[in-house]
Amino acid sequence: MDENRSEWDDRPVRRPLFVPAGGPPRVNPPSLEIYAAMGEDNIYRMVADFYHELEHSPIRFMFPANMQDAAEKTSAFFVGLLGGPPLYHQRYGPPALRARHLPYPIDEAARQEWLACFQRTLSRAVADYNFPAQHLEGFYIFLRDFSVWMVNIAPDGQ
Ligand code: HEM
Repeated sequence: MDENRSEWDDRPVRRPLFVPAGGPPRVNPPSLEIYAAMGEDNIYRMVADFYHELEHSPIRFMFPANMQDAAEKTSAFFVGLLGGPPLYHQRYGPPALRARHLPYPIDEAARQEWLACFQRTLSRAVADYNFPAQHLEGFYIFLRDFSVWMVNIAPDGQ
């Protein structure tokens, strides 16, 4: 595949692509007990909260005017990731998340903003969505480390 094309969008990406050193990060998946405690509705509500944070963030410009579809896809992905049914795979196919993020200009600063939005959501997640407190840290570490793989713009000077 042409490295400047995303597998999911055949418009060429007209900028040099950065590939993080070391390839896909080895990350421990979050505990499957998270879905068992929260259930689907709470995961959807937590992701809606996260999209509300993105709505007011400096990386708002990357997302479409209506964030509903993106929030739905992200919720479906997290339901499966956290131990529920594989909704994303069933509805949209293989996640191939790095490929699907290639159309968006994601640098390290954008990654930090994305993580900050998630951190604010997680700070309320035990009380608001029944997120099991003992798994908060592991989930955040997963997001922190896996999100490195979505970065597709080199740091300055590289
Ligand atoms: C590094 C920071 C990240 C940024 C700035 C970012 C940004 C974006 C953007 C702009 C979209 C497209 C929204 C749309 O128009 O549909 C998107 C989609 C999505 N993101 Fe991220 N993302 C990041 C990290 C992650 C991570 C770490 C995950 C999973 C753990 C994730 C999961 C998803 C999913 C499931 C979708 C929907 C994909 C699709 O089917 O189109 N993202 N993200």
